[in-house]
Amino acid sequence: METSEQVISIPRIGEKAPEFKAITTQGEINFPTDYKGKWVILFSHPADFTPVCTSEFMTFAKMENEFNALNCQLVGLSVDGLYSHIAWLRTIKDKIEYKGMKNMEVKFPLVEDITMEVAKRYGMIQPGESSTKAVRAVFFIDPKGIVRAIIYYPLTLGRNFDELKRALIAMQTADKYSVATPADWRPGDDVIVPTAGSCGVAKERMESKDENVTCYDWFFCTKKLAVEQVNNPISKN
Ligand code: BEZ
Repeated sequence: METSEQVISIPRIGEKAPEFKAITTQGEINFPTDYKGKWVILFSHPADFTPVCTSEFMTFAKMENEFNALNCQLVGLSVDGLYSHIAWLRTIKDKIEYKGMKNMEVKFPLVEDITMEVAKRYGMIQPGESSTKAVRAVFFIDPKGIVRAIIYYPLTLGRNFDELKRALIAMQTADKYSVATPADWRPGDDVIVPTAGSCGVAKERMESKDENVTCYDWFFCTKKLAVEQVNNPISKN
């Protein structure tokens, strides 16, 4: 597939996640087929044995159970080879202690992508950053294999894992209750109900006495959604 004329594309939100078969630190995977029925966070990192990536992998390893409890699997990728991946993950487990995290075992698969085939299919190589290293891309893929959200970070910027978890819970909540989530939403906060689609509904909303609903104007109404109704709530700080 690889030539200098290859068109590099980035999957878009709402499209099917590009398929690939790959060798990983947990054996071969068929993506996204093996993950049918589950959410997946597919994320890339620039290189093994680098400090920002190490801090990220330790954090992902620490939070893996929390993501799994949300029916979400983690899949990492870099353009390094399998033996480099194995050596790096062993070093992390055996030698690195960071911010109270130690003996961190990365149990989720880390894809080897020496040919950069997957990284290019997912637009993980960004020429403004590096032509040989994947940026810190994060693809949220839903149980039907559809790309639902994409976040890119440059090489120097470690990801915010609370935000990745918050985004996952927010999308699951939006799907489950047919609502949207406002700025900085966290489980337990009010959610946004679909905008009124007719003058009658707009009037009804503005005149409603329902204590669970708050309308700031006819097009901007929220309703209460108890934290218990939201999948695996994030604690409020
Ligand atoms: C890092 O993970 O520390 C890193 C990787 C590539 C470029 C810069 C930093």
